[in-house]
Amino acid sequence: MNNLTPKKIVEELDKYIIGQNKAKKAVAIALRNRWRRQLLSDELRDEVLPKNILMIGPTGVGKTEIARRLSKLAQAPFIKVEASKFTEVGYVGRDVESMVRDLTGLALNMVKTEHMEKVQEKAQVLAEEKILNLLLPPPRSQKKTALAEAPEAEAEEKKNYNETREKLRSQLREGQLDNRYIDLEVREKVVPFGIVSNIGMDEIEMNLKEMLGNFLPEKAKRKKVKVPEAMQIIQQEEVNKLIDMDKVVREAIERTEQNGIIFIDEIDKIASRGSTHGPDVSREGVQRDLLPIVEGSTVSTKHGPVKTDHILFIAAGAFNVSKPSDLIPELQGRFPIRAELDALGKDEFIRILKEPRNALIKQYVALIETEGVKLKFTNDSIEEIASLAAMVNERTENIGARRLHTILEKLLEEISFNAPDIKDKELDINAKYVADKLSDIIKDEDLSRYIL
Ligand SMILES: Nc1ncnc2c1ncn2[C@@H]1O[C@H](COP(=O)(O)OP(=O)(O)OP(=O)(O)O)[C@@H](O)[C@H]1O
Ligand SMILES: [Mg+2]
Repeated sequence: MNNLTPKKIVEELDKYIIGQNKAKKAVAIALRNRWRRQLLSDELRDEVLPKNILMIGPTGVGKTEIARRLSKLAQAPFIKVEASKFTEVGYVGRDVESMVRDLTGLALNMVKTEHMEKVQEKAQVLAEEKILNLLLPPPRSQKKTALAEAPEAEAEEKKNYNETREKLRSQLREGQLDNRYIDLEVREKVVPFGIVSNIGMDEIEMNLKEMLGNFLPEKAKRKKVKVPEAMQIIQQEEVNKLIDMDKVVREAIERTEQNGIIFIDEIDKIASRGSTHGPDVSREGVQRDLLPIVEGSTVSTKHGPVKTDHILFIAAGAFNVSKPSDLIPELQGRFPIRAELDALGKDEFIRILKEPRNALIKQYVALIETEGVKLKFTNDSIEEIASLAAMVNERTENIGARRLHTILEKLLEEISFNAPDIKDKELDINAKYVADKLSDIIKDEDLSRYIL
């Protein structure tokens, strides 16, 4: 995080997202501020609240993409929720707090994985000893009493045992024992039958197992497994014994509270104008439910209470029907940073097709290449695709960069279908090919409405 300066963050985002510099800057500053805050005195740190961001821009211009890439960079617990989901029929009043619970669950997995990695080596050492014990049980202790009067004999036996054990150890490490079987006792938590009905059994069972945790009876099963698998099972058991779950939980809650990012997409869908009947009631209701969480409150989770004061919220919406000012005033005030994203045109499309790490053209070339066909897009073909996309966006509906997906899909439909049988192993896609394939569809407005 130290090196993740705002400039660096923007640079990283640039690898995937074209343009939208204002939004990139805003999220970069917000992320950096969290790091700055960590360096403050305890007293001041509590006072500095995150500056939540509202990203405003038409559909398909990179709002979600920016948030997604940001979270990867930050390595912070991150979740994305659709605000509109909380208004769906059957979900009314679905508890908005669940987003904080999900975030905590995510942080827990993150922290747990880190802790597990740390003890992996130690667990391996312990597991090796256990495997050796199973392969070559140590001299019995009863024998010891019998031998107590003959110390030399005992020492002799011990020496022999240790030698054999070391021999076995090197065989184990070299993999010479990989085909041997070991009788292993594995413990599994079982959900008693009849505790739940049979709907969605898997999920319920998983949740139950997690929820009831240690209260479930453990069933010991004897299993014959090969040495490498036994090693894995035992190592995993040791890892679980070595990590301090209380500490993991404490750290996870801390990380959620201090570093968590919640991305609320489609926030414009819960903004409403004036009217107070119909679905709008529930929309405003959702806003009211959101308010305390965004403002800072304590949410109880199964891991303990989590304070939301310092969680960073990034909201996004197209706001083509409603405006940010249609949100209830309290909520507007909690998103002080407004970042506008620009509509995309031909020039951006050209760059989007070519430049990002995961650029569409690169994806298609790689996909088709698996069939042994090498696609080559000439520069004029890319320009043609971009200008057709811009034109269709203008004439029908502006769906931003998503238009490139539909156009490319149509353009390459035939090649994609025939690729396995194409004899010609190199194909040039030039402007003429693009025009041939697409101009008929584009000329006919109705047709392009359906196809592109
Ligand atoms: N500026 C951009 N640079 C690169 N790719 C982009 C850009 N804008 C959009 N895309 C691509 O277009 C697709 C849609 O973008 P995204 O999901 O970010 O849209 P959005 O702004 O969240 O739209 P919506 O309001 O519909 O949710 C993604 O595949 C994304 O990679
Ligand atoms: Mg989106």
